Amino acid sequence: MNGGQRSANKGEWAVEAEGLIKTFGNNRAVDGVNLNVRAGTIYGVLGPNGAGKTTTIRMLATLLRPDNGSARIFGHDVVKESQVVRQLIGVTGQYASVDESLSATENLIIFSRLLGLSRKEAKQKAVELLEEFGLTEAAKRPLKNFSGGMRRRLDLAASLIAQPPLIFLDEPTTGLDPRTRNQMWDTIRRLVKSGSTVLLTTQYLQEADELADRVAVIDRGRVVAEGTVDELKASIGSSSLQLRTKNLQDITNARHIVEKVLNVQSNVSSEGGKITAPMAEADRVTDLLIALREAGINLAELSVQKPTLDEVFLTITGHSVEEHASKEFTESKKVGEVSI
Ligand SMILES: Nc1ncnc2c1ncn2[C@@H]1O[C@H](COP(=O)(O)OP(=O)(O)OP(=O)(O)O)[C@@H](O)[C@H]1O
Ligand SMILES: [Mg+2]
Repeated sequence: MNGGQRSANKGEWAVEAEGLIKTFGNNRAVDGVNLNVRAGTIYGVLGPNGAGKTTTIRMLATLLRPDNGSARIFGHDVVKESQVVRQLIGVTGQYASVDESLSATENLIIFSRLLGLSRKEAKQKAVELLEEFGLTEAAKRPLKNFSGGMRRRLDLAASLIAQPPLIFLDEPTTGLDPRTRNQMWDTIRRLVKSGSTVLLTTQYLQEADELADRVAVIDRGRVVAEGTVDELKASIGSSSLQLRTKNLQDITNARHIVEKVLNVQSNVSSEGGKITAPMAEADRVTDLLIALREAGINLAELSVQKPTLDEVFLTITGHSVEEHASKEFTESKKVGEVSI
């Protein structure tokens, strides 16, 4: 179980997946996913609700058999060598199977003992980890009284004991407050510094931006974009312009000007009041304002922001996250999903 000593050779592949397919009933949740993750890096799988992120991870983690395609973890096949693979990976959520009536400390000690630490080492480890995750205050409380955020932190703390070479984190920060989220990010970075490889899923572009060396954007079971976050952003523009005109009848004219000055394609929101467009350089907004004034167009609102996941989606897939999510939302959504 203790595969933590395996050093991550740069250049070695932690994950190689080809053509993974999984169908539930007549719903093809994963539709030919290819993923390659280098050892010693953080890889982000980005996508909206129902895109197939969790299903992909479950196949890579030997928890679900692919209908088709293949995957290898450090060169070992997830189906034919699932026992070997299980020793090389950690999946957040495994911890949830431990006793709910026991305290955080007791749970961590049990976990450490199972991994072969002595009683003294286990105790020490539990104290250290609880301190690091800001759970010292809650150390004696039974797990069933933990909030979702506390549980998530304890979950990651548990995966730090073994420190497997490859760690899957399924939406590690969804629903966490900003402080805890930052703490989680630090911990994930630390895991990688000390030799692990992390594959995480997220719905937040910012999270991928903060952490991931490379990302795959998944939509409807397919990888629709892959590369570094910078490459991804470059393809959609580094900033995003949002503009509303005072008079609705100016919108068409304003849109022409935006497209001409920025030399890009723009979008108008479905209710028709807002123009959004990618911007390579935020500086161009000056030229745009001048052009709009010369055309006699009064603005109600103008902002330049970093692109959101929604804009990434709109640009790459031609449809928004909401459009996609609303379809999925009728299906039961696991809130604060940690267990896979
Ligand atoms: N065990 C299952 N049985 C039937 N359908 C499933 C099962 N697991 C997932 N699905 C369906 O497969 C699709 C992909 O689900 P998945 O959980 O992989 O998405 P996700 O990207 O992780 O979404 P989220 O962001 O909501 O966690 C969805 O349509 C979902 O309803
Ligand atoms: Mg999921």
